[in-house]
Formats: sequence, C-alpha cells, structure tokens
Amino acid sequence: MSRLHSFIQRVQAQLACLDEAARLIKDVPGVVLELGLGNGRTYDHLREILPGREIFVFDREIAAHPDSRPDAAHALLGDFRETIPAAAKRFPKQVALIHGDIGSGNKEATLALARTVAPMLAPMLAPGGLVVSDQKLDVPGTTPMKLPQNLPEGRYYMVRA
Ligand SMILES: C[S@@+](CC[C@H](N)C(=O)[O-])C[C@H]1O[C@@H](n2cnc3c(N)ncnc32)[C@H](O)[C@@H]1O
Repeated sequence: MSRLHSFIQRVQAQLACLDEAARLIKDVPGVVLELGLGNGRTYDHLREILPGREIFVFDREIAAHPDSRPDAAHALLGDFRETIPAAAKRFPKQVALIHGDIGSGNKEATLALARTVAPMLAPMLAPGGLVVSDQKLDVPGTTPMKLPQNLPEGRYYMVRA
C-alpha cells in the first residue's frame, strides 16, 4: 500500500473515531485533552464537534496553523512526560475525552512514549471518559472499544473508563 493510501486510511479512521467519541461523551461532563497539536487539524475538528467544551492542548511548542491555535491558558507546553503528570494533578477524574495523536516518524520512540504516557492518563478520566488515539494505549481501568463504521482493529484505538 502506498504511503498516500495509508495516510488517507489513517485520517479517515481518525475522523470517524473523533466523531463517534463526541457522540459517546455527550452525557459525560468534563474537559477535553488534545495530546499533540501539530498542525492543529484535529484540534480544529474537536472545537467544531464539541462546541462549549473546554479543550486543553499539549505539545512541545505551538507550530499550528494560525487559525487552529488555542489561547495561552489552554496550551500546556513542554514534554508530555512532564505536562501530563501535572495535568493529572489538576484534572482528577475530570476529563471526558483524551485524543492522543502522538506518533512521529520514529516507531520505537513512539512505542516507548505510548508505554510511558498510557498509565499517566488513568487518574484523569471521568467515569465513562474516553481515550481515542493513534497508538495503542494500555490505560489502566479502561476497556477497549470496537471502532465505528466497521473499521478494522488497530487502524485507530478507543478505550473507555
Ligand atoms: C502527529 S503530530 C499531531 C498532529 C495533529 N493532531 C494535527 O491534526 O495536526 C504529533 C505531535 O506530537 C508532538 N509530540 C510528540 N512527542 C511529544 C512529547 N514527548 N512531548 C510533547 N509533544 C510531543 C509533536 O511535537 C507533534 O506536534
């Protein structure tokens, strides 16, 4: 499969899972966390499908399209390994949705990051809260969910507290 085809499959799955997550957390109170602002595409989509939800964004720095940048109060900048534990203290059981889009070109580094980050997310999830991610995140206290639209397992990941 060409890289273009694989990219298209990934973003289609991302879109379907985020839309499904927005439906599933309709009655789950709490804030939303976007891990990996990047260009800001998925942040922009989350803003659109979750009007009125407070969204906090994590990345090393802001490098997003100017139209897709959070204000300073909602940008938690620095390495995930420092900013996520700080957020866990700030938002105990107060997060309705975490979207993790943390992959880089380096597969081994991405897998190591996913293993480190996953347990840090557990204390933040509200009951019924979701983690939707590009990497498999083994978050304690969550159950894996089937993907929407008959997407094959492993194309994207969804777990629920
Ligand atoms: C795949 S991109 C996110 C793309 C974005 N969701 C979008 O739709 O445009 C991954 C982002 O995660 C960030 N990132 C990766 N590892 C990180 C780490 N350890 N700490 C903070 N940010 C990190 C990178 O800087 C990059 O912007």
